[in-house]
Amino acid sequence: MRSFFTLVALFCALDASIAFTLTKPVPFNRAMSIRAAAADCPLPGTAKLDVDWQDLGFEFRPTKSHLKVEYKNGAWGSPELVSEPYIKLHIGATALHYGQACFEGLKAYAHEDNSVHMFRPDENAKRLRSSCERTMMPVIPEELFKECAREVVKDNMAYVPPYGSNGAMYLRPLLFGSGARVGLQPADEYTFLIMVMPVGDYYKDGLAPIPALVIEDYDRAAPRGVGNVKVAGNYVADLLPNMEGKKKGFPIGLYLDSSTQTTIEEFSTSNFIGINKRQNKYVTPKSSSVLPSITNKSLMALAADSGWKVEQREIPVEELKEFEEVIACGTAVVVTPIGKVVRGDDVYNFGDGKTVGGTTMELYKRMRAIQNGEEEDKFGWNVQVC
Ligand SMILES: Cc1ncc(COP(=O)(O)O)c(C=O)c1O
Repeated sequence: MRSFFTLVALFCALDASIAFTLTKPVPFNRAMSIRAAAADCPLPGTAKLDVDWQDLGFEFRPTKSHLKVEYKNGAWGSPELVSEPYIKLHIGATALHYGQACFEGLKAYAHEDNSVHMFRPDENAKRLRSSCERTMMPVIPEELFKECAREVVKDNMAYVPPYGSNGAMYLRPLLFGSGARVGLQPADEYTFLIMVMPVGDYYKDGLAPIPALVIEDYDRAAPRGVGNVKVAGNYVADLLPNMEGKKKGFPIGLYLDSSTQTTIEEFSTSNFIGINKRQNKYVTPKSSSVLPSITNKSLMALAADSGWKVEQREIPVEELKEFEEVIACGTAVVVTPIGKVVRGDDVYNFGDGKTVGGTTMELYKRMRAIQNGEEEDKFGWNVQVC
């Protein structure tokens, strides 16, 4: 495995466009035989955890390894699998002082036949590229990103929740300036990590709508700022508004555009979707300061495939009254149904506030079925690890 990584790094350092042999998505076939463990690819779900696979939450859990690649002297080095969950960092690292850091989030799922598949890692590689470009960090080539993701999942295969547990392996790629600078400028050294952990189903008791509060005293992102990329600073800006909203009884906060406060942007860590059933429309904001969600992109494709009109455009706040269903979407949960949105004295209700809307449920089920290998992957989203 080490020699494979050395080869990858060598090619990347030379900036060669190499032909990686990535595994193609398997054709859909529910009758396929159960995969037996191979030497280089153990079976998922065999690790001993402190909880049952069904009871995993969304929190850090130790696994066998994380993956690390360092960028020095203008080139990416060899990826390594590291067992200790610590890094030694220079006190002058630009990530610590100037927030030169970005990250990603994606999942890998075990199918019934014991094969394991990542969901759309190519999209995460592309989004990481735009985060790197905006923050002046060296880009991780897409093929290197995907191979690193594959190798770290393979090494931690025992920790991939088994099929039927409704859990998944969460991958958290992280890239930051690790070189020392005191004056404000980009670092000359960078570190790319992928940590992995098994995470559970958010909705053990079924999907339940939650109330959202429009955040009026703070902005998440400026129109020409960094809201459209996944950089660390966006999340620290949201900690206080988020916590204040929770104290008022709202588990989720909704941001409006920061310059006029008249159009909908997105939730703290998920995109906004409004369903207008009477007009058969799926509506989601178009804005220069919203993070392009891979879940939203996928749900848009599924909605269009089911005959919905998909509109990505400015959404005035008042249009909330036109929606029968509102969804917050993202990798961690796929969909969170929103029961009501509160803005000062204005309350916008969706359905009875207690029952999940039919369209939300349909989109959720279809997406999870594709991720679990239970429905044909007709868009080619699943990338097989083993
Ligand atoms: C600000 C923000 N918007 C939206 C999303 C949803 O994106 P994705 O579907 O790619 O997880 C996330 C999560 O990554 C996020 O942090």
